[in-house]
Amino acid sequence: MDKFVIQGGTPLNGTIHTSGSKNSALPALAAALLTDEPVVLERIPKVRDIRTMQRLLVDIGSRMEEDGERTTIVTEKIVSPEAPYELVKTMRASSLVLGPLAARAGRARVSLPGGCAIGARPIDMHLAGLVKLGARVSQEHGYVEAVAPDGLKGTRFTFDRITVTGTEDILMAAVLAHGETVIENAAREPEVVDLASLLRKMGAKIEGDGTSVIRVQGVTKLHGATHRIIADRIEAGTFLIAGAMTDGDLTVTGCVPEHFGAMTAKMLEAGVRMTQVDDTTVRIQPGGTLKAVDMTTQEYPGFATDLQAQYMALMTQADGISIITETIFENRFMHAQELMRMGAKIRLDGRQAIVAGRSPLSGAGVIASDLRASASLVLAALVAKGETVIDRVYHIDRGYESIEEKLAGVGAKIRRAE
Ligand code: EPU
Repeated sequence: MDKFVIQGGTPLNGTIHTSGSKNSALPALAAALLTDEPVVLERIPKVRDIRTMQRLLVDIGSRMEEDGERTTIVTEKIVSPEAPYELVKTMRASSLVLGPLAARAGRARVSLPGGCAIGARPIDMHLAGLVKLGARVSQEHGYVEAVAPDGLKGTRFTFDRITVTGTEDILMAAVLAHGETVIENAAREPEVVDLASLLRKMGAKIEGDGTSVIRVQGVTKLHGATHRIIADRIEAGTFLIAGAMTDGDLTVTGCVPEHFGAMTAKMLEAGVRMTQVDDTTVRIQPGGTLKAVDMTTQEYPGFATDLQAQYMALMTQADGISIITETIFENRFMHAQELMRMGAKIRLDGRQAIVAGRSPLSGAGVIASDLRASASLVLAALVAKGETVIDRVYHIDRGYESIEEKLAGVGAKIRRAE
């Protein structure tokens, strides 16, 4: 299993370019199942979760061609409308094929995701939406099956709580349903908006994406389209925190600053010298004095849960006590134990982490437990004294494209080892 070996103590100086968003590319790939014509996606990040989704699409019946940063997906026929356990257990987002398959093929069979490192993460709300759209949903042998032989029917559906992939799944089902669908309490994340803009290019009639009420007028058929995936706001945020923690002079290009506005507000409040250079560029400069600032994760446009672990690493280097509250997932503090092994002072109390800074960190052997937790360990290692060895970096490979090359390019002493 691959490891990262990191020597801490070097400020990051230079420029890093943002990759395409993993969490936008995943639903975009699933959306390609909605048409028999070619869908061309640009800037799909080369990360493991994307490869898993591509494998799933090929099993379902898609042909996939890659040419530089363009990926063409053609699904003339749905051969097998199924997401098997082997794939779903490695990537929960496989359930994103439920909606498109039910809409296009009238049948979808998807393994139930089961437990996940960051919480229970059921898909009950995806299923409730499909039932509302007229699908018959049954469960057997660990699989759910949604059947709608006569097609889905437009409806009004209110999510009990905000779910990102749930909104995406139901949106993809609704675009081919008969009549109008109104989705209430919808997620407002940029990834939902990006999916809606791809679907519109494919001929879908959607209004209200980016707000909590999305209206869809169903159409009978969608066609091919070309679409460029948005920049990964979580990757950009991770690098900006790395710049701030190492007291570097780091510029992140090719990003959309308004997509991480809540993080920027916290960073500025904490004393980070951070400026927006232009529409797609943000710079961190050295010389800020970090002070502790409380933070609570929220749905967009609030502070993203996917940046909570990285923010916790930052707060270990800030003066004072900060309280970090996680409201989206019930078990997303596994990085705290590992950060403590490196010398951080953190107390966990249910959904809150109390961080006392600033603590000098020292290199240690640590284990990556999930994607964003691993990112926070990399950040801590970059400022720790001596060598840190992070085991199980396959978690980080799920969602960060060439992270060690990007970090090494701005001066980090990081290498991959077996
Ligand atoms: N939930 C339910 N029932 C459902 C769906 C969700 O109870 O049917 C709960 C979840 O257990 C969670 C909350 O609702 O407590 C919100 O989860 P959500 O459905 O929004 O999460 P998701 O769609 O599964 C996406 C991202 C995650 C990100 C969350 C929250 C993708 C592929 N994944 O997951 O990204 O943390 O939204 O913003 O878009 C990551 O990239 O590291 C990652 C975990």
